Amino acid sequence: EMGADERVFQERIERGVKIEPKDWMPEAYRKTLVRQISQHAHSEIVGQLPEGNWVTRAPTLQRKAILLAKIQDEAGHGLYLYSAAETLGVSRDQLLSELHSGKAKYSSIFNYPSLSWADMGAIGWLVDGSAIINQIPLCRCSYGPYARAMIRVCKEESFHARQGYDIMLALCNGTPQQKQMAQDALNRWWWPALMMFGPPDGESVNSAQSAQWRIKLFSNDELRQKMVDQSVPQAEYLGLTVPDAKLKWNAETQHYDFGEIDWSEFNNILQGNGPCNRDRLSVRAKAYEEGAWFRDALAAYADKQDRASGQ
Ligand code: ACO
Repeated sequence: EMGADERVFQERIERGVKIEPKDWMPEAYRKTLVRQISQHAHSEIVGQLPEGNWVTRAPTLQRKAILLAKIQDEAGHGLYLYSAAETLGVSRDQLLSELHSGKAKYSSIFNYPSLSWADMGAIGWLVDGSAIINQIPLCRCSYGPYARAMIRVCKEESFHARQGYDIMLALCNGTPQQKQMAQDALNRWWWPALMMFGPPDGESVNSAQSAQWRIKLFSNDELRQKMVDQSVPQAEYLGLTVPDAKLKWNAETQHYDFGEIDWSEFNNILQGNGPCNRDRLSVRAKAYEEGAWFRDALAAYADKQDRASGQ
């Protein structure tokens, strides 16, 4: 049974009016948003690592400048999202300590290694491509600060996806060996990218409530299907083969049918046992520790400015 406050809140959501930080909200709504927004922020920050690995080995100066800009964008996305989470009454320090201790989740996709330059292409094309599919609807979600943050994030993500596809295109128009690198990257990133959308609808414990609150406008499986439908023709244009023997256009549904996802791989990653989980967390924690002097200096400088202005 809903209380009076909750009924007003739910009606407001159904009318499409955004919920703002100082508005009344059910405690569970606040908790759900802190969970999702903080996981999302952590994903952006940890997501810098697989690509940071290739900055010093980018094939040209131009590719290097583009990659650096993209990685900086991801840091910016993390910061907007931590700020959005802070409007819900949690501190950034608390969120970061949950990330560094391994308690907080971040996207499964960032626990895979980036083995070749072609991975920068596949990540931009498939991983950022999937992020866009997931995040465009979030621009219309019920919580104002999250929805607004997503608008700029999505614009930047579309640059990221294009730079990735451009790398794939260059490799596929290159030597047979370069094309093989692109195929190998597609083979390794395809299935993990499909897992980004989360468990199948039947096992998605948070979906029903998040849909009622209009945090989720489409289900995990609906968005995953969109990603397959969008990416298969792009793979064909590149002349690459999607690594799924069951992939087939279905004229009746007007969608591609595709094979079974290996959910044991996904669950293993969520338990912290993916190929790079430990490495990602230790690199993050080390970067945070090594940045302590800089945060201290910023705080000391801010204090000095306050004293100088007599505050
Ligand atoms: N990686 C890690 N954990 C996941 C993933 C994933 N790909 N997908 C689902 N999970 C987790 C959920 O967080 C949830 O665990 P929790 O209850 O402990 O938080 C559990 O699996 C069950 O999943 P759902 O009930 O389906 O969870 P939810 O309703 O939150 O849906 C989704 C998951 C679709 C990822 C949602 O949280 C979302 O849209 N998040 C915002 C987008 C985002 O975080 N993107 C990050 C990657 S994109 C990028 O940064 C480039």
